[in-house]
Amino acid sequence: MTLNRKKFLNILLSLSGIAGLGAIFYPIFSYLIPPKISEPKVNSVKVGSASDFPNNSYKIVKFGRKPVILIKTVEGDFKALSATCTHLECIVQYKSDTHQIWCACHNGIYDLNGRNVSGPPPRPLTPYDVKIINDEIVITSAG
Ligand code: FES
Repeated sequence: MTLNRKKFLNILLSLSGIAGLGAIFYPIFSYLIPPKISEPKVNSVKVGSASDFPNNSYKIVKFGRKPVILIKTVEGDFKALSATCTHLECIVQYKSDTHQIWCACHNGIYDLNGRNVSGPPPRPLTPYDVKIINDEIVITSAG
């Protein structure tokens, strides 16, 4: 009877030891290997009033988690392109004096259609569609 009780206590202590190790290591593993969180699917974003947007200017907007550069040209046309440089992923900006998209990191230059025209960027910027609906600027994925 005493032997059974001793065995029972040993098993109980072993189980509590295993549970204690799990309590210690589970948070460490969770930190080192975080669960995969899927990126929310974004199809379109509203980014403000078209009439309030001055010609020959730009702004960076969020399309889900991705930055997009929205440009209103001198002529008043809207262009939306990925704002992530295709070289080393710096955020590009619009140069209102040369009417080009410029990456300050390594002097990469794109035209207003997103084509890489000089500097190190290897690929063009991804285009987005822009629609004006009741004076609201709506950016959608180019399909
Ligand atoms: S990151 Fe844009 S030119 Fe290098």
